[in-house]
Amino acid sequence: MNKKTIRDVDLKGKKVLVRCDFNVPLDENGKITDNTRITAALPTIQYLREQGAKVILCSHLGRPKGQVNEKYSLQPVADELKDLLDTDVKFASDVTGSSAKSTTEALRDGEVALLENVRFDPREEQNDDTLAMELASLSDGIYVNDAFGAAHRAHSSTEGVTHHVDESVAGLLMEKEIEFLGGVLESPEEPFVAILGGAKVSDKIGVIENLIDKVDEILIGGGMAFTFLKAKGYDIGDSICEEDKVEEAKRILKKAEDEGVKIRLPKDVHVTKEFSNDTPDKMVDVDKIPEGYQGLDIGPKTVMEFEKELQGAKTVLWNGPLGVCEFSKFTIGTERIAEAIANTDAVSVVGGGDSVAAIKKLGLADQFTHISTGGGASLELLEGKTLPGLAALTDKEMEKEERQETKSDITKNTRENPIR
Ligand code: 3PG
Repeated sequence: MNKKTIRDVDLKGKKVLVRCDFNVPLDENGKITDNTRITAALPTIQYLREQGAKVILCSHLGRPKGQVNEKYSLQPVADELKDLLDTDVKFASDVTGSSAKSTTEALRDGEVALLENVRFDPREEQNDDTLAMELASLSDGIYVNDAFGAAHRAHSSTEGVTHHVDESVAGLLMEKEIEFLGGVLESPEEPFVAILGGAKVSDKIGVIENLIDKVDEILIGGGMAFTFLKAKGYDIGDSICEEDKVEEAKRILKKAEDEGVKIRLPKDVHVTKEFSNDTPDKMVDVDKIPEGYQGLDIGPKTVMEFEKELQGAKTVLWNGPLGVCEFSKFTIGTERIAEAIANTDAVSVVGGGDSVAAIKKLGLADQFTHISTGGGASLELLEGKTLPGLAALTDKEMEKEERQETKSDITKNTRENPIR
């Protein structure tokens, strides 16, 4: 990664503003149901504390639309951080108001504070410059972006703030995400197999287009497979299909063929009469989907074929479930594929909530090279898009060039005005 990181700056005694992605799922009682995004931020927080920084954390949670809404308070995250860090975490009850100012002013070296949900301020999502300035002024001119999951958003706390500090650097999670997700795209060991699922083909078209130039083959499952099957002329019954994307699916299949990239679609599917776990179901080949039935998972022949393809892979990128994981009957495809990837020696990089949930449920997380914390952000990176929150950070190369320019200016100046 060519961005400066927290290892490149002097942090001792400095107030450092750290943007995290603490957008974690909560149950109806406001209890955190998955703390992965919090634990993923710990290495950065610990490093900053060890360096003697005064750590000011900020994040969004949910989409409160610029309104203060207790349901989206970051208080439960502050409590969770206290437990995980085994230290006090001071909680500011506003974003840049009097509580934020007094809480951050009182911090001592190595101490940690968390600001209230930055999206309680309507200026955040507008990337408003005054909010960016207010956030920056809480720090001593050092900003750390560790919120990979929000790096595709150009908001005051992810992009605007970088224009008002001396140093904008990446945290360790951001660095890791870019190294693995960016790394598989830049220099994958071959064969490189991508496996994509999820309900909507429209979410993944950009990803497929970008991957065609980089992978050896793409395995497609999940609801999105049916738009491709329809594009190939199959009768897909009542299966989910984005009619307005059928032509695009045809174009992608043609492009892949022209470039010698194999796109594998399901050979058989697990169908049911209704979108439910409790109606009659059966396995059928894709050319025999009965009228009135819909496919909710890949079938066993497809699982076997995908497993075979994955066995020989050296790099595997997986995003999206292969079936409807909220129904227990239709998780088999996703779970078998998770196991197949875990059993390879390939570099394996995974993103997307349902695929990650399947891996965790099966206790396979340790057997994957990298599990991304980003949803939309990882998709945009895989699409080849620029992430504003990343682009805004200080570029190492740029600095080197600047240094070289300064050096040659000095050299030129010294030549023209030799010191005697
Ligand atoms: C995510 O959950 O993908 C990130 O936290 C970004 O959230 P957002 O889609 O509400 O911006």
